Formats: sequence, structure tokens, C-alpha cells
Amino acid sequence: MTERIYLFPLWLRLWHWANALLILVLGVTGISLHFAGPDMYLVDFSLAVRIHNVAGLALAALYGFFVIANAVSGNWWQYVPKSPGVLQRCWTQTRFYLWGVFKGEHEPFPMTREANFNALQAIIYWLVMYLLLPITIVSGLIYLNPQWAPARMFGLDGLLPVALLHYLSAAVILMFAISHVYLGTMGARPTSTHKTMITGWHEAE
Ligand code: HEM
Repeated sequence: MTERIYLFPLWLRLWHWANALLILVLGVTGISLHFAGPDMYLVDFSLAVRIHNVAGLALAALYGFFVIANAVSGNWWQYVPKSPGVLQRCWTQTRFYLWGVFKGEHEPFPMTREANFNALQAIIYWLVMYLLLPITIVSGLIYLNPQWAPARMFGLDGLLPVALLHYLSAAVILMFAISHVYLGTMGARPTSTHKTMITGWHEAE
């Protein structure tokens, strides 16, 4: 018998898909800027600069909305891995992704209203949303306003560490996004969790 539970409220779904779209736009334009060369751009350089700046500012505003809405709604609690046995549950989940899923095993920690995320998801989502994304946004804002950067850092131009941090944190976010889309196919059916993020409803087995 399947039980339907309402997991993701509208504000969260709208935030999520707007965030995903902006990350996609920032990823494509960011790659065009980083690997720019005589015949090496996905998007024309000056157009990529303009789109990247506007999408970056929109992402910063959207991030502010996420932090406030997540705090006010209490959804932030989902991002806290609950003890005891966090490491053990992370390992069980990793083993499922690497091995169990290919042998037809069932998801070890199915989504419930109380715990949408397994322990591994909680830790990774926390790192992405509360560490990597703010680093990328703040370093991007400094990049946009270079006068905010210190003149020199570690004996180098002050903007260099900011640029490095921006590039590295953004690269990790893009890698997260790719693996996140893939891991999202590991629900009851390959499309189940994506449907849940569209409709808000999850069908528990
Ligand atoms: C097209 C790209 C994307 C797809 C298809 C996708 C898909 C999904 C799905 C199916 C869920 C719900 C199930 C789950 O929790 O795993 C989800 C949740 C989530 N996604 Fe994505 N995602 C995408 C991009 C992103 C990006 C770029 C980020 C952040 C940089 C992100 C961050 C999150 C977070 C934080 C949650 C949990 C939301 C909550 O319940 O509080 N997603 N995503």
C-alpha cells in the first residue's frame, strides 16, 4: 500500500527550481568566462559577463530569501543530522548508493515528514547551502566590487585569493549539482523524487 505525504511546501519548490535555473545559467556563463579564449567560448564574452552579473545578484537575493524562509518555517531543522549513529547511517547510505541500489535493495532511510533527508543528505545539503553557496556569493559580490577587497593578501594582489575561492567553491557546487541530479534518480522509480520536488507530494512505499 502507498501512503501520500506532503513534503515540500510551495515556497521551497519555487525557491529550489529558481535556484537550480540560476546555478545552471551561472555555470554556463562562468565556464565561458573562465575558459575564455579566441575560439573557446560557449557564450560570447561580454554577453556572458552581463548575464553572469545579473544572475549572480539574483542568486544572492534568492539566497537571502532561502535563509529567512528556512529559519521561519523551521525547515532548517531538516539540515541538522540527528545523533546518535550519524557516521554509521552515512556509511549505510553510501553503501546503498554504491552497491545496494544496483542489487535492487530498498532505500535504507526512506523520506518521512519528520526526516526528509538521510544523514548523508543532511550533511551535504548543509555544507552546500550554509558554507559553499555563501562563500561563492560573497566572493562574487567582492569580485563585482573589487574596491571591497584588501589591496594585498599573503604578499599577492588582494583580489587573487577572492578569485580562487570563487572559482573553487563554484566548481564544487557544480559537481554537487551533477551528482545531486543523479542521486535524485534513486527513489522508488527513477523519476519519483524529481516529481516530489515538482508537486510537493511523496508516495511512501
Ligand atoms: C536541475 C537541477 C536539479 C534537480 C533536478 C534537483 C532535484 C532535486 C530533488 C528531486 C530534490 C528533492 C529530493 C531530495 O531532497 O534529494 C531536491 C532537493 C534539494 N535540492 Fe535540488 N535539484 C537540482 C539543482 C539543485 C541545486 C543547483 C542546488 C543547490 C546548489 C540544489 C539544492 C537542493 C536542496 C538544498 C534540496 C533540499 C531542499 C529542502 O527540502 O530543504 N538543487 N533537488
